[in-house]
Amino acid sequence: METEITDSTIKRKQNLLKELLKEKNAILLAHNYQRDEIQEIADFQGDSLELSIKANQTDADIIVFCGVRFMAESAAIMNPDKKVILPAENAGCPMVDMITVKDILNMRAEYPDAAVVAYVNTSAECKAVSDICCTSANAVKVINSLPNKKVIMIPDKNLGDYVQRFTQKEIINWPGFCPPHNRTTPADIKKLKEKYPGALFVAHPESPHDTIDVADNVSSTSGMYRYVRQTDAKYFIIGTERGIMYKMKAENPDKVFISAHKGLVCPNMKKTHLDNIIDSLSNMKNIIEIPEDVRLKARKSIENMLALSL
Ligand code: 13P
Ligand code: SF4
Repeated sequence: METEITDSTIKRKQNLLKELLKEKNAILLAHNYQRDEIQEIADFQGDSLELSIKANQTDADIIVFCGVRFMAESAAIMNPDKKVILPAENAGCPMVDMITVKDILNMRAEYPDAAVVAYVNTSAECKAVSDICCTSANAVKVINSLPNKKVIMIPDKNLGDYVQRFTQKEIINWPGFCPPHNRTTPADIKKLKEKYPGALFVAHPESPHDTIDVADNVSSTSGMYRYVRQTDAKYFIIGTERGIMYKMKAENPDKVFISAHKGLVCPNMKKTHLDNIIDSLSNMKNIIEIPEDVRLKARKSIENMLALSL
């Protein structure tokens, strides 16, 4: 009975939100880690690369970005004529806060011949002093497209280590990391593989080097959906934020998805609820603002990535 009440409350709020989106000519974009009830009604759901591309293509007046701040900032950087709302004002990403503009300028001074590649998980200010952006879906291709022999990769050391496996270039890493992804260990995977014989382990490139060593597949979040859809196995151990399993289960009812670690939860991704989406859109709150000089420079880094059409 209690579940029924909860379900009908969710449905009511979802319907209210859909009406509001229509009324305001707004589009709702949701990252693959968002809460189930948000994924369920998103106009578009995807990984950070797909969401940046989608934000660039929409003719809606308002983009409601259900994700974390750096993602909504990327949409605002590319779309100055649209309002971009981040429903949970304090949904940040701890990895973003692990590097500053000053750190990047110091690295540039130390390695003057190196290009600076900023993972999209960076602030607008850090993107503004970088040469090009990348996401987990295109990092290897972005790095290999550069003429420089040395590449400074900020801020994720795990992504930098992963890319180093596929390039002759010298990668200079910054010691940032994603707390949830950094928790997975090869021992966790070994234990789960013993419990579920035949299970395949899918890792995100933000995972530690030795965890990636034992992965059957390494992909961005949307790459993981494709892999589990196309691969003939019963059990999959999922090495990324557990919100991703909602759509995996819906799309593959005969397959079983097991989280690689109980700590694979991103508290910031979970700060967005139907209530704060409705409130921010109704009252036009939490609109992303970026100083114009920063926006123009950061835009160049994102455009350089998108121009590669990766
Ligand atoms: P994706 O680019 O794979 O969506 O990852 C974004 C992210 O924040 C992973 O933690
Ligand atoms: Fe940041 Fe990690 Fe959360 Fe992705 S999962 S937003 S990298 S803290």
